[in-house]
Amino acid sequence: MKVAIASDHGGVNIREEMKHLMEEMGIEYEDFGCECGVSFDYPDYALPVAEKVASGEFDKGILICGTGIGMSISANKVKGIRCALVHDVFSAKATRQHNDSNILAMGERVIGPGLAREIAKTWLETEFEGGRHANRIGKIKTYEDL
Ligand code: RB5
Repeated sequence: MKVAIASDHGGVNIREEMKHLMEEMGIEYEDFGCECGVSFDYPDYALPVAEKVASGEFDKGILICGTGIGMSISANKVKGIRCALVHDVFSAKATRQHNDSNILAMGERVIGPGLAREIAKTWLETEFEGGRHANRIGKIKTYEDL
């Protein structure tokens, strides 16, 4: 599995935590920024990561900003992306099982690094259930192809 990771200035600390987690889990990843200390626009980081996941260059993405909202709104504009904004472990599991989400967004001003780690670990380890959920995702894909 290859994971693309990025944050704006509001998510730098959890981004670092995610990199440690990838190393601990033995998962290949690439860090697409941002650099510390300056104010950055979240779409400049969300859209390239979303495109890399949509193209298949990366299997999954993790995006962090202050709230996670800007990152998730931006990433979900890219065709084929199902970005889930998650701040609890239950939703992390459910969005993989039911939505086959391919990008996880979190907000560093909402949760701490310990919970972010548990959320990301659960999200990365949980498989899509398919079945009726695949039909529902198929309806999203049909709409995207209109
Ligand atoms: C940056 O101040 C903040 O707006 C951003 O990190 C994010 O929360 C936007 O949704």
